[in-house]
Amino acid sequence: MKKSVKKGIILAGGHGYRLYPATRAVSKQHLTVYDKPMIYYPLSVLMDMNIRDILLIINASDSDRFKRLLGDGSQLGVKISYKPEHDPRGIANAFLIGEEFTGGDNVALILGDNVFCDTLQIRTAAADFDGGALVFGVRVNEPEEYGVAEVDRSGHVVSIEEKPDKPKSDIAVTGLYLYDSQVTEIARGLRPSGRGELEITDVNQVYLNRGNLKLELLEDSVTWFDAGTADSMLQAGNYVASVERTTGRKLGCPEEIAFRNHYITAAQLKQLADDMPAGEYRDYLDKLRRD
Ligand code: G1P
Repeated sequence: MKKSVKKGIILAGGHGYRLYPATRAVSKQHLTVYDKPMIYYPLSVLMDMNIRDILLIINASDSDRFKRLLGDGSQLGVKISYKPEHDPRGIANAFLIGEEFTGGDNVALILGDNVFCDTLQIRTAAADFDGGALVFGVRVNEPEEYGVAEVDRSGHVVSIEEKPDKPKSDIAVTGLYLYDSQVTEIARGLRPSGRGELEITDVNQVYLNRGNLKLELLEDSVTWFDAGTADSMLQAGNYVASVERTTGRKLGCPEEIAFRNHYITAAQLKQLADDMPAGEYRDYLDKLRRD
């Protein structure tokens, strides 16, 4: 029996210290990755997966700004709700904050600074989700910066470690995770790590111990960035710019996905464009509608 994932959480809180002073007055997820706010990219991934019930976990002080940017999501044909995180306690804390939202259903979690370019493989794997945990791996140069998964010849996960000094593989676990209803109880049982956080890797370790952790290794065509540092944000921006200039198609454009997935009509897309100041983004939405 397939158990689809209909709910998604975007973790968009945190201090963003690695981007200081850019994050002194604005949250990281409002900074731009090329031509749009960073949060558009993870939001687009969830919408691409046909997830329309979305919880944003944010710092309480960013509430007005997020609501000005995304509102309740109805303009995109989705439902966006918000919950504050008063004291960042680690990624797995999202499941405790989001317990009421999740309500025992399957859930996707995506980190607010993760940029995935090309989501076809993700969509396909997510559509086949049948319980347990599903994580997405990417081969990287510096695995010690990430959660690292070791897999055997048949692709089964053998071990998973958070930022190990001596990585057992070059496969980084990206910041997109799919879980079944066990996740809340697992998160509740976690103890803070050495750096004082409820680690997502510890959640995945429990699933691994239970024989319920799957890893989808993303193909080379899927470019992924954790845009949490000045360098990676710049790299992500340059990459997006280059793809958009070459193809004339935008990456991470929630209005486009809403229209293509029939969450909104052509008339609603026109209204969204009409409400924007003249400029390149508005021209793009107008063109979509006419094509
Ligand atoms: C977090 C996770 C790590 C994961 C990474 C992906 O690290 O702890 O396992 O590989 O996100 O973006 P952070 O970037 O918060 O240090």
